[in-house]
Amino acid sequence: MSTPSDSPEKIILAVLLKDEAAWVSGPTLAKKLKLSRVAIWKHMQKLSAQGFEFESRRSLGYRITKKPNNLNLALIELYLKTKPTEYSFDVLDEIDSTNDEAARQLAQGRRAPFALFARTQTKGRGRFGRTWHSESETNIYVSFGFRPMVTPDKMQTFTLWMGVNICDLIATLTQTSPQVKWPNDIVFSGKKAGGILTEARVDADQIRDLVFGLGINVNKPSKGWPSEIAHRAISLGEAAARSVDLNELAAALSDRILTAYKAFGDGSHLDTFADLWNKYDILRGKNVTLIEADRRISGIVLGIDDHGALLLKDADGKTQRFRAGEVTIEK
Ligand code: BTN
Repeated sequence: MSTPSDSPEKIILAVLLKDEAAWVSGPTLAKKLKLSRVAIWKHMQKLSAQGFEFESRRSLGYRITKKPNNLNLALIELYLKTKPTEYSFDVLDEIDSTNDEAARQLAQGRRAPFALFARTQTKGRGRFGRTWHSESETNIYVSFGFRPMVTPDKMQTFTLWMGVNICDLIATLTQTSPQVKWPNDIVFSGKKAGGILTEARVDADQIRDLVFGLGINVNKPSKGWPSEIAHRAISLGEAAARSVDLNELAAALSDRILTAYKAFGDGSHLDTFADLWNKYDILRGKNVTLIEADRRISGIVLGIDDHGALLLKDADGKTQRFRAGEVTIEK
């Protein structure tokens, strides 16, 4: 868990979270951190300012009584299984869009991979230039910065692969039944809980900078959203019928996304991609309408091809393939 270079706050948390019910004495903490008890108390004050609460008893020491509900860097790093040397992290209080900030940082030469979380976004973006409502600190807004250096054709199925990995992680972590709606919506019973926005910068036919952006409605109830989206939206907490630990989810997602990215890079994703897609795909066999630019096509979904295009059997029984578009399931 913790490494020698960890901050005192992170070490204090690691010790107290090992067994949340247990008391840890002041001298034990002081010895572990090689700091005076006064210095430790000051670090605990800093943690209190971040939303942690502690109980202290003269004879017993300290224990943790509350963790913050919003994103917290020290907690994410503590829960993370990936080695800290493989990944760097930021939790920003507010940013225009984590995708835009990740693109700026990649352009400035920040070492990849990295994960950039924000508690809120002022200009969160969705597909087709739509707004991604990002005012609630109880949701996930994150972008991952990568430098894959591959030709763009290799990336055609990247977003689909990442989408099923996110579904698989959420299903395991929260005992829920998420599905993926081509190309990149995360849904529960057909209602949208999350979306992906992948953006690339191509140089000399190589993807130089890749930003993988993910938004998940975690603990904000859907009835709090603008009326035009509330009926089509759901939060992960509503699907799980409990509130979900945002920092545990953030860490588990970060682990899984890096593992999935690596598997995509070395081609080993092909061993499981088709099975995962079939497991989580909500559209197969459904009657849908697809809108692509000014075209509107109805048909039955047959699945996806090797390039990640959606296969639709139209009214004439002809199979048509689509690289992009927005799909509505017909009742
Ligand atoms: C969609 O379904 O339309 C995609 C939504 C993607 C939203 C995420 S939130 C984090 C990242 N930053 C953005 O501005 N957008 C993505």
